[in-house]
Amino acid sequence: MRTKTIVTLTLMASCLIAFAQTNSTFETTNVPETVPSGTNMAPAIPVLQIDAGKVTGNVSPTLYGLMTEEINFSYEGGVYAELIRNRTFKANAQGPVFWNAVGDTTIALDTNQPLNTALNVSLKLDTSKALKNSPVGIANGGYWGIPVRPNTTYRASFYARGKHFPGPLTISVESTNGDKVFAKAIVPHISGKWEKYDVALATGNTETSKDNRLVISTTKRGSFFNNHGTVWFQNVSLFPPTYHNRPNGTRPDIMQLLADMQPKFLRFPGGNYVEGNAIAERFNWKETIGDVSQRPGHRSPWGYWSTDGFGLLEFLEWCEDLHLQPVLAVYAGFSLRQQHIAPGAQLEPYVQDALDEIEYVTGVTNTRWAAQRAKDGHPAPFALNYIEIGNEDLVDRSRSYDARFVQFYDAIKAKYPNLQIIATTPVKSRVPDLLDEHYYRSREEMQAHALDYDKNSRTNKMKIFVGEWATRVGSPTPNMAGALGDAAWMTGMERNSDIVAMSCYAPLFVNVSQIRGANRSMQWTTDLIGYDALTSYGSPAYYAQQMFSTMHGDAILSTDSQDIPTRKWQPRAVRGVTPPPQQIRQIFFDATRDSGSGIVYLKVVNEAGTAQNIKIQITGAPMIEPEGEAVVLAADSTGDTNSLEQPQRIVPRAEKVDGLSANFTREFPPYSISVLKLKTK
Ligand code: AHR
Repeated sequence: MRTKTIVTLTLMASCLIAFAQTNSTFETTNVPETVPSGTNMAPAIPVLQIDAGKVTGNVSPTLYGLMTEEINFSYEGGVYAELIRNRTFKANAQGPVFWNAVGDTTIALDTNQPLNTALNVSLKLDTSKALKNSPVGIANGGYWGIPVRPNTTYRASFYARGKHFPGPLTISVESTNGDKVFAKAIVPHISGKWEKYDVALATGNTETSKDNRLVISTTKRGSFFNNHGTVWFQNVSLFPPTYHNRPNGTRPDIMQLLADMQPKFLRFPGGNYVEGNAIAERFNWKETIGDVSQRPGHRSPWGYWSTDGFGLLEFLEWCEDLHLQPVLAVYAGFSLRQQHIAPGAQLEPYVQDALDEIEYVTGVTNTRWAAQRAKDGHPAPFALNYIEIGNEDLVDRSRSYDARFVQFYDAIKAKYPNLQIIATTPVKSRVPDLLDEHYYRSREEMQAHALDYDKNSRTNKMKIFVGEWATRVGSPTPNMAGALGDAAWMTGMERNSDIVAMSCYAPLFVNVSQIRGANRSMQWTTDLIGYDALTSYGSPAYYAQQMFSTMHGDAILSTDSQDIPTRKWQPRAVRGVTPPPQQIRQIFFDATRDSGSGIVYLKVVNEAGTAQNIKIQITGAPMIEPEGEAVVLAADSTGDTNSLEQPQRIVPRAEKVDGLSANFTREFPPYSISVLKLKTK
């Protein structure tokens, strides 16, 4: 119920965030014409014209990036490689959810034996009925399973303390029904004080599976003098090998999908996640650093517990691993249930928190927070160019954002004048370096708006950051209709990337293990990348992004078009009023050139269900080589998609192309996104 409300509110917020673009007197030859053909004539062949001699701007080197937050089990049960669910037992104060007793015993939460003030509860196991052939213990089934792979070494660790219980404990990874044990280790002795135990668990030549569990058990009832033993646990953890073998690291398969997109930045940690439902549930970065056993965790606005094992440093290491610039969103004094901190003295500690956070990220180690970063294992500072102040502050009904923004802006610019500051909604009192706009739309809405940025002013100092956007068609991940809407929209951003400096799709991740029901793994439909405990896949929209991000030049070329076919579309009613039907284009395109190689990248989206012969006319290029390359993403129907079972159903295909010239005709398949690489020197 709670999650449902959140989703509805967020949807409303997203609609509000779809700002109308400001129009201006700027004129550009870059605006393709919409020309429905004459009524009784055979439709004319559409013509795309590229003037390679006329550069209208530079493609922003940071145009394509990633956005991430804890939603849909993005970190816990996602890119964070931790395999144990509710490892700190704080997910539910009523009981040890996601944990089971093994054998003839009971388990319970115990607040009288805290590990420390951060992890102030523990799991209590009664060992008094353990027998040689009848062990007792605790078991955890992970995030919808625990992946077991052959010949793989896992690291298990936990804190424990015994009372009348000196050990031993057996730690095993086994099938859910206990029939098969894949890896096992023994901790011979458990102390009477809290201590950390760490073992390696190596699998043999077994098959890959996920219906498994971690079990910590014993066959000993208690000590020599007392057979009524008790053992308490905290921070029970299991890690498989991670990306770049980082401790407390990330999942290699998901990181590889991201690396293949060649993104340029990572916007984190939200989204709603930075704000929290309440001020006390914000992303309080100081509680997300240091030893994981000192991180209290918090409830995320998407309805589940976050251990904060994936905290500020882990985000930064993610950036480091994929060579991404961090786009750091700081908490700006507004939380989703309309709680806000009054600008002025009350907001000062939060501004100071943001300054401290920047120091943690960028400082040299003779400063307090940079010294903390070094202590946390990363002495080298991270490069940081972008700070976002809050998230979607348009929804703050107190209308306090302008004043809150000014306070953050002035303090940050005073100390870090080179940082680019991003506002989440328009402000009057300062000129932000970038404005973050969010668009969640249908396929047709995306297409109807694909030319919007052509009309924007070129004289504005402030650049645009499309910090969340998606064509929301397809669940859990977008289908080909989603990819077509996205690609149309991306041609508009790329053609205008002299003003659209940055963009990132959202949400990035979804755990698809259980997309419905009370304990569901998805809070938001239409997410770029899907996974379960074992494998992951990119949606058609993922591949569209990958094509756009990895294949473009640095110079935007002037384009024009004729005879673009259109189709009728009825926009949805707004507040009970149905707008008139519109004609929307069926072909979208843009062209960029790489100054070094001279390659022109022509992107063409054919959203129609029929193949389209299209004339391509190129002027202003000294020559066009007849041989080039086409990379095409196409589907038989708009509903076609990828899934765990069919991860590669719709993927880009590269082919050699011949017969290219300054004036040629090419057939573009139905429902397709193409990148033509034309060699011009
Ligand atoms: O991407 C999902 C949510 O949509 C984000 O958390 C929020 O910023 C937006 O409303």
